[in-house]
Amino acid sequence: MFKSKLPNLGTTIFTTMSALAAEHGALNLSQGFPNFAADPELLRLLGEYSTHGFNQYAPMTGVRELREQLSLKTKKLYGAHYDSETEVTISSGATEAIFAAIAATVSAGDEVIVFEPAYDSYLPAIDLCGGIPVYITLHYPDFQIDWDLVKSKISPKTKMIIVNTPHNPTGSVFSENDINELAKIVADRDIYLVGDEVYEHIIFDGLSHQSLCTNSALKEKSFICGSFGKTFHITGWKIGYCFAPKELSVEFRKIHQYLTFSTFTPAQYALAKYLENENNYLSIPSFYQRKRDVFLESIAGSRFEFIPSKGSFFQNVSYANITDANDAEYAIQLTKTIGVASIPTSVFYHQKLDQKVLRFCFAKDDETLQKAGEILSKL
Ligand SMILES: Cc1ncc(COP(=O)(O)O)c(C=O)c1O
Repeated sequence: MFKSKLPNLGTTIFTTMSALAAEHGALNLSQGFPNFAADPELLRLLGEYSTHGFNQYAPMTGVRELREQLSLKTKKLYGAHYDSETEVTISSGATEAIFAAIAATVSAGDEVIVFEPAYDSYLPAIDLCGGIPVYITLHYPDFQIDWDLVKSKISPKTKMIIVNTPHNPTGSVFSENDINELAKIVADRDIYLVGDEVYEHIIFDGLSHQSLCTNSALKEKSFICGSFGKTFHITGWKIGYCFAPKELSVEFRKIHQYLTFSTFTPAQYALAKYLENENNYLSIPSFYQRKRDVFLESIAGSRFEFIPSKGSFFQNVSYANITDANDAEYAIQLTKTIGVASIPTSVFYHQKLDQKVLRFCFAKDDETLQKAGEILSKL
């Protein structure tokens, strides 16, 4: 009999909930993807490059112009220098970058600190490398990290810490203090970091994104993974990237080279051109803050409780005032009975911690958000 290397993995909840939403004609606020179009200018650029012959393999490390634009942007926004030739790599979405970073670093028996709730791609990658996840549980409503607890979990076997800011599914973000505490913990230790920063431009209320690269000591140990899919409403293009110091990038590229080798060429040229206009990314925070507010206003009179999301395109709400049903059952019930799909946050915990909290994705057109809010307010 075939022996599975990941015996406990099945279909993701995102696939399940999206399928259920389609089956019941529900408004789909479950899976994290925008239901509106990307900027016509970006689409035009994609067409232009694909019709003008940019259709063969891109370089393994990514198209030079795109690496250069990313390097410039990161310098401008965070004051961090990455050499575009040796320290920036274009990947097939952030998912590939995260996998390659983990695979390049973690060996059998190494411990990896994972904060839960956690995005679902981290654990299978750790598992496949023979790594041992060491969980730190974050709790509703603010999901703050207790750095003393993190310190107590560090062992001689700790090889990696995975952090995600702005955070999926909670909408929390790192503060400068979080960055400083993390830097203290990894100082003088052989511990590396994955910074999952795919929502770097989706941050609200004037907060600034605290990238791991803002701290020079963290920068030296970090694989910072990003995603154009999230920033420019093109999740289907699957173009991401990884910033890492040269020594780490060399190892990262060894994995990337045989995982995908290279990534969709015309899109890389289109994105490089599009990034030349900084307004294209500087306008993203206010664009999504407005969407968050449309959703929050639409559920303001409901019995749900919430703290406004600080970043990402997700809003967590507690339904403890409405029912004591289990969150997975409740999410399914709402999809079937009132036609609004969400994600139960217990799925982001390995022990399926049920805090009576649902995650709604507000990367949707206003009409969908308002309609969903109207229905949810009747509960
Ligand atoms: C926290 C987080 N990291 C990584 C990804 C994956 O990004 P990509 O679609 O670029 O692979 C997602 C997508 O949902 C995400 O939410």
